[in-house]
Amino acid sequence: MTDFLELAGRRYTCRKYSPKALEQGLLDKLLEAGRLAPSAKNRQPWHVWVLRSEEALSKVRRLTGSTYGAPLVLAVGFDPSQGWVRESDGKNKAEMDSIIMATHIMLEAEDLGLGCTWIGSYEPSELYEAFPEMAGCEVQVLLALGYRAEDAHPGPWHPLRKPLEDIVTEL
Ligand SMILES: Cc1cc2nc3c(=O)[nH]c(=O)nc-3n(C[C@H](O)[C@H](O)[C@H](O)COP(=O)(O)O)c2cc1C
Repeated sequence: MTDFLELAGRRYTCRKYSPKALEQGLLDKLLEAGRLAPSAKNRQPWHVWVLRSEEALSKVRRLTGSTYGAPLVLAVGFDPSQGWVRESDGKNKAEMDSIIMATHIMLEAEDLGLGCTWIGSYEPSELYEAFPEMAGCEVQVLLALGYRAEDAHPGPWHPLRKPLEDIVTEL
């Protein structure tokens, strides 16, 4: 059984991919890991768009500099109309649900020995213009995925985490 803390510590943002396509079986496992994620009231308001055709990849590569040659990009989003809305403050939890789903996929990638990049730097309006199929949903994150290039390595921020004393308060 994988030791979770070891996996979490080993994972790093991949910024250089091999062009080798990902086998369908591995994509299936990534998607299954996302499907199993928890969601508020189990609404599962999420959707995943698989971008791996030449056409889809060239479109997404024009939208962000952060795909780093990955042969697969998953756009993870949600349909706000399907999310649970907390009565007390009207907060729709669909966004949070989709982030949890994307996190499951990212960690499954690490468990499979794959690289993953969580991409936040793109302009949403350009994404929706390039992919009108996403209409009605909000894309929360793009995940670049694939085999790491042989010389891929963690970036300078990877080892830098705040100490627990700075981020935990016992009340
Ligand atoms: C919400 C979010 C957005 C991010 N956006 C990008 C991005 O657009 N491009 C990129 O190269 N890395 C991006 N990252 C990766 C972070 O820079 C990285 O997780 C952080 O520096 C810690 O490094 P590590 O993941 O290697 O441990 C993003 C991460 C998160 C969680």
